[in-house]
Amino acid sequence: MKIVRSPSSLRRAVAAWRRKGLRVGFVPTMGALHEAHLALVRRARIACDRVVVSVFVNPIQFGPKEDLAKYPRPFAKDAALCRREKAALLYHPAVSTMYPPGARTFVEVSGLSQRYCGASRPGHFRGVATVVAKLLSQVAPDSLFLGEKDFQQLVILRRMAADLDFPVRVVGCPIVRESDGLAMSSRNVFLNPAQRAAAPEFHRALLAGVEESRRASATPASVVAAVRRRILKIPGARLDYVGLAETETLEPAQRLSGRLRLLGAVFFGNTRLIDNVPIRR
Ligand code: PAJ
Repeated sequence: MKIVRSPSSLRRAVAAWRRKGLRVGFVPTMGALHEAHLALVRRARIACDRVVVSVFVNPIQFGPKEDLAKYPRPFAKDAALCRREKAALLYHPAVSTMYPPGARTFVEVSGLSQRYCGASRPGHFRGVATVVAKLLSQVAPDSLFLGEKDFQQLVILRRMAADLDFPVRVVGCPIVRESDGLAMSSRNVFLNPAQRAAAPEFHRALLAGVEESRRASATPASVVAAVRRRILKIPGARLDYVGLAETETLEPAQRLSGRLRLLGAVFFGNTRLIDNVPIRR
């Protein structure tokens, strides 16, 4: 496995594979890799001949009061995991490579980026869309593999790739959970033992919403209310938001029909967890 820090060496490696007709898959990450990241690498290896993983803690997607400084950065361990999973190349650019002094261009996916997580994290999705646009331009993969855990991010990046004519297939991959239901996240390590014990209740609260959706009299509002009620009972949890949205557009659901997504975010202390489940009616 090659470890590369500059866009030019990255482009050279990918171009050489391209000349041989090999299909290239790309898994962008911020590192602190866990089983869910590795599942994306495995999924990419099934679909593609060569897999590029990026590890880059993207400063412009963090708010001023967020956890950029303390975000975990175990790079040597991440590299070993990528090697074990047979990634062909690990791209690890410096912040000054991605954002040299004078950089002034940002990518904004309007509308979609303002609600749900975007409402509590202003500027977050602008930072995500900007870095992924730059990474797509540098890596030029055939397929981009993203997790459904960050469901709004997935919808926004699909839209961005289509709107900016990136010739890439965007593949959404299922949420990987701990055995107690908690969605895996690099931020779970910030939970203290009491918070960690309570955290799976967040997923159960979303499942209570799924159960409510099956009742004949259910409405989008009753589904959201069922989840909120459950979250308000979780010890140490503070509700950020719960929403029920159309899967493709993330427009708030007006009716309980078709393919919907029930999304939420909860704080345990300063740690913000997100999760979502599908609802089909
Ligand atoms: P990061 O949080 O490191 O996540 C990298 C990828 O792993 C994302 O596509 C995310 O959805 C996926 N992922 C994380 N936990 C998951 C889980 N439990 N189940 C399924 N997929 C999971 O998301 C980012 O980084 C950044 O915003 C990035 C896209 C790299 C841009 O900086």
